Amino acid sequence: MSRKSRASLNIALAGAAGRMGNEIEKISADSACVVVAKIDSGKDWKKADAKIIDVVVDFSSPEGLSDALKWCLANKKPLVSGSTGLTNKQRKELKDAAKKIPVLYSGNMSLGIAVFTSMMESLGAIKDWDFQIEEVHHNQKKDKPSGTGLLLQEKLVQAVSKSVPEPSSLRGGGVPGIHTLWAMGPEETLTITHTAFNRTVFARGALKAALWLFDKKQAGLYDLSDLYSHK
Ligand SMILES: NC(=O)c1ccc[n+]([C@@H]2O[C@H](COP(=O)([O-])OP(=O)(O)OC[C@H]3O[C@@H](n4cnc5c(N)ncnc54)[C@H](OP(=O)(O)O)[C@@H]3O)[C@@H](O)[C@H]2O)c1
Repeated sequence: MSRKSRASLNIALAGAAGRMGNEIEKISADSACVVVAKIDSGKDWKKADAKIIDVVVDFSSPEGLSDALKWCLANKKPLVSGSTGLTNKQRKELKDAAKKIPVLYSGNMSLGIAVFTSMMESLGAIKDWDFQIEEVHHNQKKDKPSGTGLLLQEKLVQAVSKSVPEPSSLRGGGVPGIHTLWAMGPEETLTITHTAFNRTVFARGALKAALWLFDKKQAGLYDLSDLYSHK
């Protein structure tokens, strides 16, 4: 059924009791979405009713992402995930699942970081400079470096075609996320910084991604650059 024939998108939310889960539930009505299933452990998937779920949105944990993927594959449902700290095994699970169902994964769901990564494509012109990604997050964050730090690192390596140091991480207070790229030349420096003021920005991005992915229908591994280049 196309979303156009119904007022809103029905979502199963993995990690519903967490910080991001709460934020998503809070803004879901504004984004034409309804949370119809709350998943807080692997066992909760047994109770999820595939008949009423359009898309799964996951902000839980690496293990939670694996559980969500299994359910989505068994029930042929699209998955949007922002869970970070993935192992190589979990990254492979994502890629394999995306051969069969639509999957959108991003370690950062904000529009600002999507633009940040596309700006990084011009760094080839200064590839001889020194580079460092720096990330700052709240003191409850479980993974280090952050998923966004790793995403920026990956884009940086692609742009400058050389290895660069690991992202540096700072933890403290309630910071939702600050990411800076340092490009340091012999006579000048260039810095790009993205600051998330709150978690709403990630929640809004994830629900926008869910609406886009539901309409997309085609299996594949997507990220936010796909979403914003198909506006
Ligand atoms: N991509 C982005 O834009 C973005 C933005 C912010 C955060 N994140 C990531 O999103 C994830 C959640 O962040 P958060 O700050 O909301 O963390 P959080 O407050 O710790 O919430 C995570 C929730 O997921 C639950 N959970 C753990 N394992 C699960 C499983 N197997 N199935 C279902 N639920 C499970 C946790 O339950 P218990 O407490 O009982 O374990 C908890 O309620 C993290 O990986 C974080 O790095 C991504």
